[in-house]
Amino acid sequence: MTAPVLTIDGPGGAGKGTISRLIAERLGWHLLDSGALYRITALAALRCEQALDDEAALAALAAGLDVSFLPGDSGVRVILDGDEVSGEIRTETVGDAASRVAALPRVREALLQRQRDFRQAPGLVADGRDMGTVVFLDAPLKVFLTASAEERAQRRYRQLREAGLSANLTSLLKEIQARDARDTQRSVAPLKPADDAITLDTTRLTIPEVVDRLIELLAQRG
Ligand code: C5P
Repeated sequence: MTAPVLTIDGPGGAGKGTISRLIAERLGWHLLDSGALYRITALAALRCEQALDDEAALAALAAGLDVSFLPGDSGVRVILDGDEVSGEIRTETVGDAASRVAALPRVREALLQRQRDFRQAPGLVADGRDMGTVVFLDAPLKVFLTASAEERAQRRYRQLREAGLSANLTSLLKEIQARDARDTQRSVAPLKPADDAITLDTTRLTIPEVVDRLIELLAQRG
């Protein structure tokens, strides 16, 4: 029997990362942060000064990434070519480059099997944009998390400040809106809820409220 998957898709800053991590911890399930894979690909490209529109070269880079995810005190530690890049992949520069490389079909294809390999017993929480629409079509529970762009910009701002990074709220909002537009309008795997997904607006919900609600839904499907 294949392991169960809870897919959590939605725009950046809707709380998917934190919520996915907390649910995975509560259930003792594996965690896939698919956005990290696009961010790592983007960082690898920036490091070797690879043009962000050379699809063939970027797909080859994505297919050959030497990356590992290790458990850490404050979430998963990301290692690229032996270097810890957990902080570096969260910068706006890398996030912006990630959404550009993620629009390229061959890059997405190159990362597909790597994502599916995360599906192992006892289960997987998969966080991203196309987890329910492309990567794990047969997931027993698909959730689409949203929140207003303003609320998401505020959350990202607090997150960056807490991590000791500089941030500007107005430019964060603009970047979030630009990234939303790019993610929803791209021709391949555009950001949208799966037909069988449950949509949850988190603008006025706390993180523990969302976590409890999703665990309850999962138990109902179980
Ligand atoms: O979720 P996160 O902000 O880390 O993702 C970075 C970028 O990677 C997103 O803006 C999006 O363009 C892309 N992405 C994607 N498909 C996924 C996860 C992320 O296209 N499953």
